[in-house]
Parts: sequence; C-alpha cells; structure tokens
Amino acid sequence: MQHLTNKRVLLGVTGSIAAYKAADVIRRLRDAGAEVKVVMTDGAKAFVTPLTFQALSASPVYENLLDKEAEAAMGHIELARWADVILIAPASANSLASLAQGRADELLNAICLASDVPLAVAPAMNKHMWADPATQDNVRLLAQRGVLFIGPDSGEQACGDIGEGRMIDSETIISRIAELFSVGSLSGLTVVITAGPTREALDPVRYLSNHSSGKMGYAIAEAAVEAGAKVILVSGPVSLESPDRVQRINVESAADMEAVVKEQVGAADIFVATAAVADYRPVTVQQDKIKKKEERLTIELEKNTDILATVKAEYTKTFCVGFAAETQNVETYARTKLEQKNIEMIVANLVGPLAKKTAGTFNSDLNELNVYWQGGEVKLELASKTKLARQLIALISQRFSLYKTNTDNKNNIISLKSH
Ligand SMILES: Cc1cc2nc3c(=O)[nH]c(=O)nc-3n(C[C@H](O)[C@H](O)[C@H](O)COP(=O)(O)O)c2cc1C
Repeated sequence: MQHLTNKRVLLGVTGSIAAYKAADVIRRLRDAGAEVKVVMTDGAKAFVTPLTFQALSASPVYENLLDKEAEAAMGHIELARWADVILIAPASANSLASLAQGRADELLNAICLASDVPLAVAPAMNKHMWADPATQDNVRLLAQRGVLFIGPDSGEQACGDIGEGRMIDSETIISRIAELFSVGSLSGLTVVITAGPTREALDPVRYLSNHSSGKMGYAIAEAAVEAGAKVILVSGPVSLESPDRVQRINVESAADMEAVVKEQVGAADIFVATAAVADYRPVTVQQDKIKKKEERLTIELEKNTDILATVKAEYTKTFCVGFAAETQNVETYARTKLEQKNIEMIVANLVGPLAKKTAGTFNSDLNELNVYWQGGEVKLELASKTKLARQLIALISQRFSLYKTNTDNKNNIISLKSH
C-alpha cells in the first residue's frame, strides 16, 4: 500500500473520454491517506458530472476561474497554495498544449501557473493525437520544465484504435505520486519538536527571555508534516499561527517545556530541539512585583536542566537533533555539543552581529545552516526558513534511516551473541 498520509493532492480532470477513470484515482488517493480536491475543466464536465467527484473526494469540486463567489471562497491562488502536488488525470491533448503555452484562461491551468509544487500528468487521448508532432513537442517542452509524465499506456482505445495514448492504470499513477514524496519521507513516524523562547519569571509581571521568534522550529514542524510525520510541537510564547495538522502544546518556562517534552517524547522516533531554552532561571520568583528601591539589584540565577541531553540520556533510541545558535566559532561549539550531549545531529547557525546576511537571524525569514554529525557535515546555503526546513527534514530522514538500520543490526548482533 502506498503512503500519501497528510498529502494534499489537487486532481485536475480534463475533457477526455477517460474522465470517468478519475473516480478510481480519487478513491485510491484517499485510500493511500491523501486529501483530495478536484478541479474540472469545462471539457471534463461534458463527460462526468462534478457531483460524482464531490461525493468521492468529500470536498466541493472547483470549476470556475472568473466567478466572484468561488474566488471569495477558495480561489486559484489559495488552491495553488493548498496543494502539495498537482496531478492531471486524465490530461487531454488540449490541456498539454495549454500548459506548454502557459495559458491561464481556465481555473486548472491558472492554478498550475500559480503553483510551485510538482506537477504530474497522466495523458489520455487517441493514438494519433498522442503521436502528432504538436503534442509530442508539447510533451518534450513540459518534460524539460520538470513536469512528470505518468504514461500513457498502449492498448485498445475507446474509439476502437489500438496504440499508445490510453490513460495508464490508477495504481501506477498513485505509486508514481507516492514516489515523489519518498525522498525525505517520515511516513508513519512521530516527531516531537520544540520551538521559540522560554520565559523565566522574576516576579508576577517580569521575566527573562531571548529573541527567538520560533520561525525555524515552526517551519520544521510544517516540513515534517509534509513528509508524512505525526508532529507534536512544544512551543514557547511566539506570535505565530500553528501549522496545519500539527499538535501544538504551549509552554512558558524551561521547566514547563521539560515536563511536556518528557511526557511526549516516549512515543517519538525523532526529537528536534530548536527552542532557545533559557540556560538559567531566577533562584526565587518573587511573589509580589519587585519595587524600584535600590540603585543596584542583584538577581541570583540557577541552571536549568539541559532538555536535549536529558532526553537523549533517558531515551537512548530516540534520534535526537539539536540546534546551536552561536555568535562565533560555530563549528567548534556545535561539534562539542554534538559529543557532549551524545546526539545524532546538530544544526548550527550564526547569530548576532556577525550574521549580516540574515540580519542577526532571530526573527528573520532567511537563514543559513551548517549541519554536523559524527563523520559528516552539510552546508545548507542562505535560503528561506521554509526551504531550509524541507532540506533539513530530507537530511534527517536519510540519517534516521541509516541510524535505524545500524541500531537494528547492533541489536541483532547482541541478541545473536546472547544465544
Ligand atoms: C467523445 C469525445 C471524446 C474525446 N476524448 C478525448 C480524449 O480522450 N483525449 C483528448 O485529448 N481529447 C478528447 N476529446 C477532445 C476534447 O474533449 C477537447 O479537445 C476539449 O476541448 C478538451 O478540453 P480541456 O482540455 O479543456 O478539458 C474528445 C472529444 C469528444 C467529443
């Protein structure tokens, strides 16, 4: 069974005699765990009614581009943003021509233009239409631009001809779509992520905190969901919306964060600690507001628990990823943390006055990262935090698979020896 858990597939249906086969595609996409929204061209509606697809996808079918009400509800830009992948099945000769020309005169082709997610097409047409040089030129052009062609198949056609042009079977379509997500896949895994700053109370109205915005952690949570994981986000106080499909638990202090993480991490395969947890907290929290009396005020601080190191010591099999925000000597400090905490991976970035390209990094939408593990490293160049989060999740997924294979092998050797 293919995994498309959490994936959002926008299915375009165009005016081919094979339009009825889209019903089976929808059913199989949903069986694989995907959420499906259908967009039909006018041509498609001549073959099948939207009601069929509405019932099968459990969602309204989108049909019109220049419709005030439709645009006000979920317009072409929202639909383009919603999708993780766009699949056109069946794709008519006309729809391929229109995509090749970059037309935006129907809802479906406008969405394709407005979207930057992968586009896959399953062509379906008469063998002469498929073989025509105009269609073949369009196919070449679209393939060069990165459009994924699934099929067509050869065989008997609706018009009685025999040859190439039939829509390929829906099982093949679903497995090719699932393959698109298999790199960097965290399907079926649980990931606990911490994000944001913590607040250490001094009195009922004041606290010690830091500049962390939580943006990197939230982007990682979103990317992990995209990769198919169940995500629990333990968040310090930030002004960010919860990413879709993420279970968010709000905390204030480092001690709160530690308690919640310990409750959740037992069920996790991967723990990613992006939060900027306060290293110290006031020894005593004053019951009443501290009054402005003395010229100098001394506040005594004590160390907070190192959440990541404690988790790794207690849950030795959990794949642990730490973050190191450093103002200098990034690699040396990051590698020291990697060893001291005995974790699998550390993601380091420069913060403060030296981090000019990212304006100090905190609250910036950009970042650049150096990722280290025992015996390896990767530099992720300056990019948006969203893009970096996706790259990082792909890397975590690769390293996690290796880690699992190695630990499973070790356990096998140990159990063989003990027999
Ligand atoms: C009965 C019938 C069957 C058709 N089957 C196909 C087909 O399988 N593939 C195709 O590319 N066009 C087929 N066409 C032509 C398209 O429906 C036509 O080009 C239409 O404009 C496509 O619109 P669309 O691409 O906007 O959906 C068929 C037309 C008719 C009348």
